[in-house]
Amino acid sequence: MRLVIVGSQWGDEGKGKVTDFLGQQADVVVRSQGGNNAGHTILIGKEKFALQTIPSGIFNPHIMNVLANGMVINPKEALKELNGLISRNVKDFKLYISNRAHVIMPYHILLDGAYEELKGSHKIGTTKKGIGPCYADKVNRIGIRMGDLVDEEGFLEVLKQTLPLKNRELKMLGQEELDLMTIYNEYKEYGKILKPYVCDTSLLLEEAIKEDKNILFEGAQGSMLCLDHGSYPYVTSSSPTAASVPLNTGIAPKYIDHCVGICKAYTTRVGEGPFPTELHNELGDLIRERGHEYGTVTHRARRVGYLDLVVVNYAKRISGIDSLALMLFDVLTGIDELKICVSYNLDGKEIKTIPATLKEYEKCVPNYITLKAWHEDITKARTFEELPEEAKVYINTIEKYTGINVDIISVGPERNETIIRRQIFKK
Ligand code: GDP
Ligand code: IMO
Ligand code: MG
Repeated sequence: MRLVIVGSQWGDEGKGKVTDFLGQQADVVVRSQGGNNAGHTILIGKEKFALQTIPSGIFNPHIMNVLANGMVINPKEALKELNGLISRNVKDFKLYISNRAHVIMPYHILLDGAYEELKGSHKIGTTKKGIGPCYADKVNRIGIRMGDLVDEEGFLEVLKQTLPLKNRELKMLGQEELDLMTIYNEYKEYGKILKPYVCDTSLLLEEAIKEDKNILFEGAQGSMLCLDHGSYPYVTSSSPTAASVPLNTGIAPKYIDHCVGICKAYTTRVGEGPFPTELHNELGDLIRERGHEYGTVTHRARRVGYLDLVVVNYAKRISGIDSLALMLFDVLTGIDELKICVSYNLDGKEIKTIPATLKEYEKCVPNYITLKAWHEDITKARTFEELPEEAKVYINTIEKYTGINVDIISVGPERNETIIRRQIFKK
């Protein structure tokens, strides 16, 4: 079975936890897009891991972990992450990196920062990891790929062609130009260490499909950060939708069997951009503290708001979400003023989709339904029936307004703090 995990909001929905949980049934775990802008938290017992580039299947020695062609990879940071795992005794793993994945180079990071600064009050609020500039070079056909990096001579040739162009751009933006041989000497060493992992991962996935292996595609970011369908320009530079998985991994679309939308019980967003249900009050602060809503990557305080089902329904439509995993449900315990947004008002009209322009989206006013609070601790619940009535109503309301079954309910960060209503990943 091939299962896709998609963030249904603005990222940080708990994709890492679900990937780790469902990964127990997986033979292969694949990251298909983004790079170390992602921060996926996994709690194994009392040990906390924050993965950025490495797939969340890395802790299981039997799982093949794939960084596919659609990713952008910072080799220096990926190695740091890998060494960090090794130093914490995660030594027995299988890792495969696509020779077609693009390499985040030092100039991408400098350019990310420089463009943000130039944009001033219109900045995106990026993670400053060089993601946008690296994808821009891919589209502009001046990118460097993992296959180039691990070929010592080839790498020098590509760098000789690319660096003068990038140095011009850096100079134009008032940045210092970079020295060819300094970068070459540093990065060829990363290439040497990573070479044993680099291969044609599309062929690998073809084999896994032929052998009917269980493949889990671990999405990064969220649907509203999609370059094509998100709250543009306040988005990332790749597409975190289910539709992007075939392109970003080199498998045919017909092989995707099921899509799980990961949905926080409320909404968060990091960085700038519209957020209709945002709470600028004490309740927002309370949810932020309870949910530890601070970025895994940049440690920025996440913006917090009520659950927005217009957003979730939009993600459903774009990706074809078959099941929902409702995350951080425990955080809502004891919150008296519980609301869920079911539509927006735009210029006096009710709408149930996301408008394309920023100007329109910024004008949208949420229409809420109000629900009753529950006060009982739900972290020990392992079945739906054990939940308080009010909590059941909250879940039933989500199902009613989205038409999607909430098949997974997460009541705490740990693996076992999970309610499974339907086994969706079958061997
Ligand atoms: P991702 O980027 O989608 O993988 O999500 P992040 O890891 O950035 O953020 C999710 C945060 O919520 C992490 O700190 C998780 O440990 C935590 N988390 C996940 N599920 C639950 C849950 O059900 N309850 C609580 N309290 N925390 C959770
Ligand atoms: P995970 O996988 C939340 C946001 C950034 C910024 C915008 C563009 O952990 O859910 P970028 O550096 O990608 O050019 O930044 O996208 N962003 C995320 N927000 N979770 C993420 O990943 C994110 N990855 C990027 O904050 O607003
Ligand atoms: Mg995250």
